[in-house]
Amino acid sequence: MQVIRTVEAMRAWSLQSKRSGRRVGFVPTMGCLHEGHLSLVQLARRTADLVVVSIFVNPTQFLPGEDFEKYPRDPERDEALCRGAGVDVLFYPETGAMYAGDHSVFVDEQRLSSGLCGASRPGHFRGVLTVVAKLFNCVQPDVAVFGQKDVQQARLISRMVRDLDFPVEMVVGPIVREPDGLAMSSRNQYLAPAERQDALCLRRALDRVEDLFAGGEREVERLLAAMMEVFRAIPSARVDYAEIVDDVTLEPLQKLDRRCLVVLAVWVGKTRLLDNTLLTP
Ligand code: PAJ
Repeated sequence: MQVIRTVEAMRAWSLQSKRSGRRVGFVPTMGCLHEGHLSLVQLARRTADLVVVSIFVNPTQFLPGEDFEKYPRDPERDEALCRGAGVDVLFYPETGAMYAGDHSVFVDEQRLSSGLCGASRPGHFRGVLTVVAKLFNCVQPDVAVFGQKDVQQARLISRMVRDLDFPVEMVVGPIVREPDGLAMSSRNQYLAPAERQDALCLRRALDRVEDLFAGGEREVERLLAAMMEVFRAIPSARVDYAEIVDDVTLEPLQKLDRRCLVVLAVWVGKTRLLDNTLLTP
């Protein structure tokens, strides 16, 4: 595995790989890797000859007061995990290598980014789309793999690829969970032991909705109320949003007559956790 730290070297590697007829797969991450990230590497492997993983804790997607400084970083462990997963290139740029001191161009999406995490974290997706566009220009992948765990992010990046004509095929991989059902996340490390237990309320709320839906319930109000009941039982949990939205437009649905997503963002103590599930009538 090669570790590449500059944009120039990354581009040179990609150009050479593509000239030799190899298909490049790409998994962008912010590091502190877990099995969720590694499952995306395996997916990339399936459709590409070479796999690039990037690790870059992107300052522009954190709002003032958020956890940019304390975001977990573990370069040695990440490098070992990438080696073990058969990654070909680890792209590990310094902040200074990615953003000029007077960087002034951003990618701003106008529709899908207005609700859910976009509403709670204004400016977050502008940072995500900008860095992903930059990473695409550095790595020049044929295929890029993202996780369903961050479903709004995945939908937004697909929209950017379509609307700005990036020659990149998008693949979205399923949510990887801990044995007890908690969706894996680098931020799970923030949870104190009691909070780690409380964090299971997200999966429990989704189970609740899935069960009711399977039993024929189609009233959005009733499904949302059943979820809120789960959260009310957990004093450390504060719901940021709990919505049932259209799988494509991410707009709230009144009637469950098509594929929809149940999307959750819940604070457990000082940690904001995401989870979601798909309902298909
Ligand atoms: P990060 O949170 O490190 O996640 C990197 C990728 O891993 C994302 O596509 C995310 O959806 C996916 N992922 C995270 N947890 C997962 C899980 N439990 N199962 C499956 N996939 C999972 O998302 C980001 O970084 C950044 O916003 C980034 C896209 C790299 C831009 O900075």
